[in-house]
Amino acid sequence: MRIARTLHELHQARAALGPALGLVPTMGALHDGHVALVAAAKTAGAPVAASIFVNPTQFGPNEDFLAYPRTEDADLHRLESAGCALAWLPDVATMYPADAATTITVQGPALRWEGEIRPGHFAGVATVVAKLFGQVRPSAAYFGEKDWQQIQVIARMTADVPLPVQIVPVPTVREPDGLALSSRNRFLTPEQRRQAPLLHRTMTQAASLLETGSSVAEALSSSIAALKIAGLTPDYFALVDATSLTPLDALTRPARLIAAAKLGRIRLLDNIPVG
Ligand code: PAJ
Repeated sequence: MRIARTLHELHQARAALGPALGLVPTMGALHDGHVALVAAAKTAGAPVAASIFVNPTQFGPNEDFLAYPRTEDADLHRLESAGCALAWLPDVATMYPADAATTITVQGPALRWEGEIRPGHFAGVATVVAKLFGQVRPSAAYFGEKDWQQIQVIARMTADVPLPVQIVPVPTVREPDGLALSSRNRFLTPEQRRQAPLLHRTMTQAASLLETGSSVAEALSSSIAALKIAGLTPDYFALVDATSLTPLDALTRPARLIAAAKLGRIRLLDNIPVG
């Protein structure tokens, strides 16, 4: 695996790889969910590059940019054993030179939910992903369904600009008890770790209520109540159109249940298909 830390090293390594290339963008602290993205990219047959960059512009002022886990040596080992051909590890000055003056702001699927709770977050994501696409020039890029709204925002941005990259969603990897793998799960106390799977369990119960004819309002309000009783603080728990992320009041089209809930200082994020 080639490791590039400067644009010069990246361009040299990229030139050796040929036209088709899969890219897996990450912020590091890699787990089996990230490895599944590399594995999905490998099945397409082209070489695979992964990027590791903890992107400051997608963190709010009160968020955990400085405390975000950084495990570079272990990450590089994981990428190498997963079969990556190239790891791209830029620094902040490479991604955001002092004279940079462009931000990509997405409306539509970026407006609600995470976009509302974390102002500027999706502009940071869209901008850094567009930069990574420009630097690495992948033919396809792989993103986890774990961050459903993020995929819709990136797909919208890629179609709107447009950028010649195929966006490929990869199913969420979960612990045996249903908890979606996340780099921040390591910060859960043992007690919180026991409570955390309740989010996914409540979502699967809500999905079966909806699929067996329960009203949307009833399914959502009973789920929110169940989470609160168990000590979680939901930010939202919603049935949305899978692409536009607008709320649905009936189960009428490709729909997704999306939820975010706080457990102590950790925010759990999850989503599942419905119908
Ligand atoms: P990060 O949180 O490191 O996630 C990198 C990729 O891994 C994302 O596409 C995310 O959806 C995926 N992922 C995380 N947990 C997963 C799981 N349990 N199963 C499957 N995939 C999972 O998302 C980001 O970084 C950043 O916003 C980024 C896109 C890199 C831009 O900075």
